[in-house]
Amino acid sequence: MVYTKPTNYKERPIVIIGAGTLGMRIALMMATRDGEVRIYDPSSEQRNKANDFIQQQLPGLLTKFPGRSKGKVVLFDNLSKAVENAWIIFEAIPEKLELKKDLFGNLDRLAPIDAILASNSSSFPTSLFIDQVSESGKTRVVNAHFYMPPIQNAIEIMSCGFSDQAVIETLMDILPAYGGLVPFKVQKESVGFIFNRVWAAIKRECLDVVAAGISTPEDVDRIFMVNTGIPIGPFREMDQIGLDVILEIEEYYATLNPSLPTGPRELLRKYISQGKLGVKSRCGFYSYTS
Ligand SMILES: NC(=O)c1ccc[n+]([C@@H]2O[C@H](COP(=O)([O-])OP(=O)(O)OC[C@H]3O[C@@H](n4cnc5c(N)ncnc54)[C@H](O)[C@@H]3O)[C@@H](O)[C@H]2O)c1
Repeated sequence: MVYTKPTNYKERPIVIIGAGTLGMRIALMMATRDGEVRIYDPSSEQRNKANDFIQQQLPGLLTKFPGRSKGKVVLFDNLSKAVENAWIIFEAIPEKLELKKDLFGNLDRLAPIDAILASNSSSFPTSLFIDQVSESGKTRVVNAHFYMPPIQNAIEIMSCGFSDQAVIETLMDILPAYGGLVPFKVQKESVGFIFNRVWAAIKRECLDVVAAGISTPEDVDRIFMVNTGIPIGPFREMDQIGLDVILEIEEYYATLNPSLPTGPRELLRKYISQGKLGVKSRCGFYSYTS
């Protein structure tokens, strides 16, 4: 199918599938404009949590966009009803390949023929989960990878290998209107997105410098802050994400590239084995007593 941007997209719903950490944030961004934002999640607890989060955050976010009226958030427990008449569907379900394969197969069957099917997966390129999608349906599938809106508003758009360029151009064109998102086009398929990959390399080298006894977490952070002007350094940032999460990501990259240095993972394992997971355990590279 050759994609054309629908002229009536503003009158059609935007759908978010999965109302967890990222899904509720995507829905928040989409609700910064007039229109219907639908959230589908099998868990009523998650649906309600997402709605509470949006109702709390939206008034503050809208002050940055004077004159705009907010979107109408509607909660769904039925997938086929949720996707009726949608112009775009964002998937934010758990990072499990089989789940994503089934969902994209279902979306291809249930969604309007011109609805864009966008995945938020961090580690799987969409090419890995379109085997149940029809040949013509593959042209409307893309990765649309958010970070942590409304704080980190970059979004990376990547083809599934079959995506219609018009789908990608439509997203590049339309997304900035939603909560100040800043879209970037990933020029070819990649395991890990542009920012994730660069940040992974920075983290890894910082960890390696400390693992080798060349410096300390505090000094690496300080030298970063002095030289680049960033408000917090990489070690404090890793503490915020969680050292267990950082290790999982690093282990995954190591399976793809066995020549990566082992020092960073050994250092992370040492902290984790002492219960030092970062801010969430009140101790990581730094202590967080209050
Ligand atoms: N957490 C992050 O920092 C982050 C950042 C960028 C991208 N991502 C990606 O976003 C996706 C979601 O991550 P998350 O952290 O929001 O996960 P999460 O576990 O917080 O939320 C997942 C939600 O999906 C729901 N769900 C489970 N199975 C479902 C199904 N079949 N259909 C619909 N909903 C279903 C769950 O009830 C839950 O509410 C993942 O692919 C992840 O890689 C996460």
